[in-house]
Amino acid sequence: MDNLTDRQKEVLEAYNKAGSHRKAAELLGCSRNAIAQSLNQIKTKSLKGQGTLTPTLTPCEPGFLTKRISTARREDGSIALQWHIQEPEKASLEEIQDHLLDVFSSIKPCKPLPQPKKTLSDLASCYIIGDHHLGMTACSEETGQDWDLEKSEQILIESTQKLVARSPDSHTGYLINLGDFMHADDKTNRTPRSGHALDSEHFCKVARRAGILQKTLVELMLQKHKKVEVINVRGNHDPNSGMWLNEVLRAYFLNNKRVNIPQNLHKFLWFTWGKNLVVTHHGDGINWARMHQSVVSNLSKEWGESDYRFGWTGHLHHEESKEIGGMKFERFGVLPPPDAWHSGEGYGSQRSMTCIVLHKTQGLDTRYQVTV
Ligand SMILES: [Fe+2]
Repeated sequence: MDNLTDRQKEVLEAYNKAGSHRKAAELLGCSRNAIAQSLNQIKTKSLKGQGTLTPTLTPCEPGFLTKRISTARREDGSIALQWHIQEPEKASLEEIQDHLLDVFSSIKPCKPLPQPKKTLSDLASCYIIGDHHLGMTACSEETGQDWDLEKSEQILIESTQKLVARSPDSHTGYLINLGDFMHADDKTNRTPRSGHALDSEHFCKVARRAGILQKTLVELMLQKHKKVEVINVRGNHDPNSGMWLNEVLRAYFLNNKRVNIPQNLHKFLWFTWGKNLVVTHHGDGINWARMHQSVVSNLSKEWGESDYRFGWTGHLHHEESKEIGGMKFERFGVLPPPDAWHSGEGYGSQRSMTCIVLHKTQGLDTRYQVTV
């Protein structure tokens, strides 16, 4: 080991004493990589010492160590050829663990978003997502407009951003998905009941992105509102995927006291805000008159305690409203363009997203809409 530099001798001594790259690095106050590099140089020198030294030996590639040096000699003993055999760097489990700990310790957990300082305690802002059909694809030759997953994500985020900016500083923000958030329910890419083929992106890709998209919307709302509630109605396109999507979001925000996400097993989902009663349903298999009967029968207590009752539905992709027996029913516009089926059937309407602001004692305060 006479050919080692003082520093290399110091590193070797520290490594032999400490037993790992990390501990040797701590002893000498240098990085783990510096220790690994020095030990590799020491090994190379050690192997070279077994034969004739050659100045032309190339250094190891990053991530490799010297395994052996093979030498072919001429009759006179001089070196004719020399092979520097390298192998991937082998690290002990402890070293790998140390390295992973180093990497993970540099990742900071995401900080909870700062809570808005002042909000208006009487107001709730309801961000209403009409049938979004995430994952639906369309080509302009067939429907008049190209559409894909990226465009679908972008338009929903941008529309929500605009509505959050326009909304007053309401105490609570409700994110209300009126069903058919997902275009397909599973990998078959067919409607669950009738089995109609759907123009859709790969289901696994859509599934992966759906939860992230809703999480992004909730985080946008948390910047403005003290509390956020998410109502995820299940539609006829996503009776199952709408359920697990809701569970994914519930799991993500489980420990966040500012977010509440009720289960969505029931087709009717409802909430009260002061004297307002809001009942949501996708609108498939039921008309507003029957929905009214159901609310009066099943939510009689809430009906009696409310002054303003709203029935909000999706399903048909256009706006419409009607008042039935003390309850205002409304269907909302959607952000995506028509798919091939709707386009072929002649459907199509103004594309939009709406935010309705409710006052605890005065009912509907104001409404905002972004159109595409
Ligand atoms: Fe729909």
